[in-house]
Amino acid sequence: MFIIHTVSELRQLLQLARRQNKTIGLVPTMGALHAGHLSLVQACKTQCAFTVATVFVNPTQFNNPDDLHNYPRTLKSDSVLLQNNGANILFAPGEKEIYPEPDTRVFHFGDLENVMEGKFRPGHFNGVAQVVSRLFAITQPDYAFFGEKDFQQLAIIRALVAQLEEKPVIVGCPVVREDDGLAMSSRNALLSKKQREHAPLIAATLMQAKEKAKTLPVAEVKQWAAGAINADSELEVEYIEIADEKTLQPIKQWSDAAHARLFAAVYARPVRLIDNIALN
Ligand code: PAF
Repeated sequence: MFIIHTVSELRQLLQLARRQNKTIGLVPTMGALHAGHLSLVQACKTQCAFTVATVFVNPTQFNNPDDLHNYPRTLKSDSVLLQNNGANILFAPGEKEIYPEPDTRVFHFGDLENVMEGKFRPGHFNGVAQVVSRLFAITQPDYAFFGEKDFQQLAIIRALVAQLEEKPVIVGCPVVREDDGLAMSSRNALLSKKQREHAPLIAATLMQAKEKAKTLPVAEVKQWAAGAINADSELEVEYIEIADEKTLQPIKQWSDAAHARLFAAVYARPVRLIDNIALN
């Protein structure tokens, strides 16, 4: 595996791969890799002959400076994991490589960006669109792989691709969970021992809510889930939403969506965790 830090080196290596007619797959990450990320690398390797994983903690997508400061940075162990999982390139650029000039582009995603993460993290998806569009332009991948834990991000990236010239096929990969159900996230490493013990309640609540959704109205399922999580001393709900899986717009009754999904954002302060589950 090549570990490279500059766009020019990356372009040279990709040129060689393209000359050999290799399908190029991109796995963008912010590092602190876990089995969820590695499932993206595996998915990439099954579809593509050449896998580029990127590790870049993108400052423009953080709406909270403390969150950016505290984000785990573990490049050494990330590179070992990527090497062991068969990535061909680890691209770990500095900020100036990605943003030689400040990125002032403003993206528009309509209703998709006005709910849930878009509503509670203003500017977040614009920053995601800036870095992902830049990575696509640099890498020009045939495929790009993203996790469904960030389900709204995946929808935003699909919408972004429709607006861009680079048009990789976007592949969404299922949420990977710890044995106790907690959705894998780089942020889990920031939880205290006590918070880590309590955090699986989020996934357990979503799974129980899925059962309740078979008999209760939408509003009651949301209310029950928020109550169950807020009853825990270590956890605090920022939002619980039930939305149409395609439009991500909240639904009021089950007949409003062919496929509904339950979304949660929960603080184990100061750490913020998100999760989601398909309901029907
Ligand atoms: O999901 C992430 O880790 C990030 O939002 C991404 C897509 C790598 C962009 O920085």
